[in-house]
Amino acid sequence: MRVLGIETSCDDTGVGVYDAEKGLLVHKLASQVEIHRDYGGVVPELAARDHIRVLMPLITATLADAGDPRIDGVAYTAGPGLMGALLVGVSLGRSLAFGWQLPAAGIHHMEGHLLSPMLETNKPDFPFIALLVSGGHSLLVDVLGIGSYEILGTTLDDAVGEAFDKTAKVLGLDYPGGPAIADAARSGTPDRYNFPRPMTNRPGLDFSFSGLKTHVRNIAEHTLLDSQTTADIAWAFQDAAIDTLAIKCIRALKQKGRRRLVVAGGVGANLELRKRLTNAGDNGMFTVYYPRPEFCTDNGAMIAYAGWVRLASGQKDSLPFVARPRWSISDLPPIN
Ligand code: KG4
Ligand code: ZN
Repeated sequence: MRVLGIETSCDDTGVGVYDAEKGLLVHKLASQVEIHRDYGGVVPELAARDHIRVLMPLITATLADAGDPRIDGVAYTAGPGLMGALLVGVSLGRSLAFGWQLPAAGIHHMEGHLLSPMLETNKPDFPFIALLVSGGHSLLVDVLGIGSYEILGTTLDDAVGEAFDKTAKVLGLDYPGGPAIADAARSGTPDRYNFPRPMTNRPGLDFSFSGLKTHVRNIAEHTLLDSQTTADIAWAFQDAAIDTLAIKCIRALKQKGRRRLVVAGGVGANLELRKRLTNAGDNGMFTVYYPRPEFCTDNGAMIAYAGWVRLASGQKDSLPFVARPRWSISDLPPIN
């Protein structure tokens, strides 16, 4: 079975083709960074319009590069995400499936992230704990199998990626903020600043990042932000954010008695986070699995893979377009 996957939930147009026997055949991405840079954040209306402009040509180019034009199903991100952006992928994906007389599957964006390490040769077995960290979500999930997801912790306010993005803005760094903070932190002086690790000194697996973001803003407002100081603050922010995530991951692994950890979503591309978690598991307590950095951020490959999993299990969508801007991953049906 060969599945075309379409991702348009936010500011990246992604398309991929996954083949049950051969694995990922091809994937292509059109980034909207240049469109949103002037605004310092994603402008939903501009995102939707650009998806409309690039999606069909990107699908045509992806199918051409797949070698064999045969497709057995179409999968598209149906939520969560920006309504206008989602509707572009949902309506085009569902219509193509109808026109080609193929089954269609609306995919949960975070399930796409969660399953993205399955695109690698070093795949995790079930069960595992997943840390899903993106611009809109910070989730700790106990994963028993595909569709068997228990949310152990979530953010009470800002997602961690959002905190990276907003902190970068306060520091006058480039957009998108996550990679810009990581970049600046590389020349930061370790431990010149020491920022709080929110909600780590009490039990529980929820996150809160808005206090850390406000803490940085208060310091930045009363400090001359020369390039070294900016780098030092970026280092301390990144250190605090990563430490907080690592503490909660280890707590979740212990609580559930798991020995495998999956880290995915845009913030999962952060090399210091990967280093920190890999080191923490080096004592033999757990193994960490990541997708390659380009599959941490939004892409069509993970949607093609999740689509193959769901379509191969016999799941398919009926004809109406269904886009769900809010959708809990724990509401997905399990696959046996
Ligand atoms: O998964 P993703 O591409 O889109 C959403 O589903 O939101 O995640 C985007 C988020 C942004 O907040 C971005 O700043 C963050 O991931 N990000 C990073 C890094 N690369 C992307 N955060 C920290 N370090 C990075 N290297
Ligand atoms: Zn995402």
